[in-house]
Amino acid sequence: MSETRNITIFDTTLRDGEQSPGCSMNLAEKLELAQALINLGVDVMEAGFPIASPGDFEAVREISSTMQGTTFCGLARCSDKDIDRAWEALQHAERSRIHVFLATSAIHREFKLKMNREQIIARAVEGVSRARSYCDDIEFSPEDAARTEHDFLCEVVEAAITAGASTINIPDTVGYATPQQMGKTISMLFNRVPNIDKAVISIHCHNDLGLAVANSLAAVQSGAGQIECTVNGIGERAGNCSLEEVVMALKTRQDFYNLETNINTQRLVPTSRLLTSITGMAVQRNKAIVGQNAFAHEAGIHQDGMLKERTTYEIMRPEDVGLAKTDLVLGKHSGRAALGDRARELGYQLDAEQLQEVFDEFKKLADKKKEIYEGDIHALIQQRIHGGETENGWSLVAFDVKATSGETPICKLTLTRDGQEIIEEVAEGDGPIDAAFWAVEKITGLEITCKDYQVRSATLGRDAIGEVLVEIEYQGTVYRGRGTSTDTVESTIKAILDAVNRIES
Ligand code: KIV
Ligand code: ZN
Repeated sequence: MSETRNITIFDTTLRDGEQSPGCSMNLAEKLELAQALINLGVDVMEAGFPIASPGDFEAVREISSTMQGTTFCGLARCSDKDIDRAWEALQHAERSRIHVFLATSAIHREFKLKMNREQIIARAVEGVSRARSYCDDIEFSPEDAARTEHDFLCEVVEAAITAGASTINIPDTVGYATPQQMGKTISMLFNRVPNIDKAVISIHCHNDLGLAVANSLAAVQSGAGQIECTVNGIGERAGNCSLEEVVMALKTRQDFYNLETNINTQRLVPTSRLLTSITGMAVQRNKAIVGQNAFAHEAGIHQDGMLKERTTYEIMRPEDVGLAKTDLVLGKHSGRAALGDRARELGYQLDAEQLQEVFDEFKKLADKKKEIYEGDIHALIQQRIHGGETENGWSLVAFDVKATSGETPICKLTLTRDGQEIIEEVAEGDGPIDAAFWAVEKITGLEITCKDYQVRSATLGRDAIGEVLVEIEYQGTVYRGRGTSTDTVESTIKAILDAVNRIES
């Protein structure tokens, strides 16, 4: 058998993922996720698109100049301004890569760029050469490569490699390809581009037909050496190739692919959960690898088989993706050290002050609830880290909600601002949640619209923590908020305040 090939994992959660609706992050959140991606072991991290906005620039600069342990990449169109800005953001990184892209398909040439084939090649060469004048590690992407004529794609790829690109990424920008076709396209490039051995071939698939992972696997099977992907598969429209799925496919079926990655797979679930808690975008319960049901066995026959021999119905071990063996974790008498250990196992690095705060909440919860599960611990920690309960801004002092059949629901709300002023208001609504929204509006003076409201339980049981995720719109911008409590009305108010505090931060 030939030697096992190592596949480079290029993570674009902070770029392609972050640019999709509902996934935007602030600088602190990007820094936290970037550290988690380094701990996960990604080989390349595309930290943003520096020319896109001052926020993107700042994020790429801050992440790449303060962190180590991966190659930091910034995206640029094939223009001097973009490339210069990307380098400005990346110049202090220990290892950096500029990723230059230019569309090559007939549709994009004709309608978007209004350029002919010769102009595209000339621009691609100029862009790669300029990027190369700054740094040795250059990636070039012929955007919409999957719909580009093969002859022309070969010409562009050859020219980009000659100009100095060391990675050629083949994007299926609109998620149009199928696995067999993608495999053939990659093989075609290996057969027809004379200098192909001077570059690593990469694959970047979107999931419009639900084929992003399958297409990426077909590409590496045909010789591609890098996969571009995102945590939880977030990204434009239906998203990108899901990192956890493609990595576990390669690991679980190494017998077939004979490929490996540098990903620390035990960090997959914690990283997925961190992203969910930052963006408020939950994955579906039955999502492969990281969904709540991914390792749950419901049918009696399956449970029986599992008890006799795990591999009858399980192709991966939950612990290999970072799921604890047992869900029941702690009880009323558990101490701070046990909580700290458990938090570490779940992937959180809490300092002493954070641990104390989470422990105080844990004790309150343990008084209400006999058994504390993994989901409760996640909820408590995430509320502490991402719940918006800051010393500055609005926070909840007390609430009194009345919802009686046949009567108008009413919410009496007491809030404090910056831990000082105490303000109380009463509001009516169509329901108790609506009344809570109105009461927040009255107190804060902000006119907000609720765009999305989701409630779910963090764990099993009637006494489970209820987690509320809200999206509110204020003056045309959408803000996310998250709140947790065993009382869903309280979770709701906390979530609204979390979102309101983001408006004002
Ligand atoms: O989907 C795409 O084509 C991209 C490129 C910028 C690589 O994201
Ligand atoms: Zn993309």
